[in-house]
Amino acid sequence: MKTSLHFVIVLILILSISGCNNKSQNAPGTSTTPENSLVTDEKGKTLYQACRACHGEKGQGMEALHAPALSHQEDWYLKRQLLNFKNGLRAYHEKDMYGKQMTPFIKNLSEDDIEQLVSFISTFPHEKAASNIRGDINNGKAVYTKLCVACHGPQGDGMIAIQSPKLKGSQDWYLKQQLQNYVNGIRGTHPDDAFGSQMIPIVKQLNGEKDIEDVVTYIMSL
Ligand code: HEC
Ligand code: HEC
Repeated sequence: MKTSLHFVIVLILILSISGCNNKSQNAPGTSTTPENSLVTDEKGKTLYQACRACHGEKGQGMEALHAPALSHQEDWYLKRQLLNFKNGLRAYHEKDMYGKQMTPFIKNLSEDDIEQLVSFISTFPHEKAASNIRGDINNGKAVYTKLCVACHGPQGDGMIAIQSPKLKGSQDWYLKQQLQNYVNGIRGTHPDDAFGSQMIPIVKQLNGEKDIEDVVTYIMSL
């Protein structure tokens, strides 16, 4: 009896939440008072409804769906990646099964839509991701200092001048997945992917999965 009452309450909550979303989806741009004062454009918020199921309400990501956190990331990098998905530079390889999940949601968006989405994502709070990979942090630090620091910076903050993304704030499973993708040529191999291709000669110097897990362990400590 108690269980079914709980079920009904949960159902009502779900229905009322999705009801609100439908309202904002049906009437984009008609709201004059954003609920969050940081949100200046309702369009980005409306567009983000299509991303929530995988990237989470606040861009915190979802490991079960292999969808990374977005909330920590810089706006210029998010915009460039979304354009890369749209233009086929990312999720290009036939074996990039996770990347290919993104493409249908980006393909028909305009550059303005992408900018509105990114400015909405930039309002999300940054939360430090939990770390489950336990590699050798000393070897990880040595690898990072030798191979990564020049481009991603001593604190993993990335560098806009050379378009290298922030690594600090990412989840360990996602960092590992991307490094493996570069190793296996699943990412960074499109002929026009000038930035992604810079990662390829670097990851070739990593000593297998051990170095990958060690360097990820070190990045998570930054
Ligand atoms: C069906 C699930 C799904 C949906 C819906 C989805 N994504 Fe993704 N997204 C993913 C996955 C999985 C990845 C990781 C791809 C990879 O491994 O390269 C990803 C990657 C990304 C990245 C790259 C992050 C990085 O650090 O390089 C961005 C940015 C992104 N998504 C934004 C969005 C936005 C904005 C939307 C809504 C318009 C969206 N996604 C909708 C699953 C999804
Ligand atoms: C020559 C500069 C350079 C070096 C050295 C370098 N990177 Fe990168 N890295 C980049 C650039 C540029 C990108 C963005 C690629 C893109 O646009 O898809 C990138 C992307 C990444 C990504 C994907 C991030 C995301 O959110 O999807 C990871 C992870 C990464 N690098 C880790 C590393 C690690 C670990 C090392 C050292 C072993 C390293 N990089 C060395 C330039 C570099």
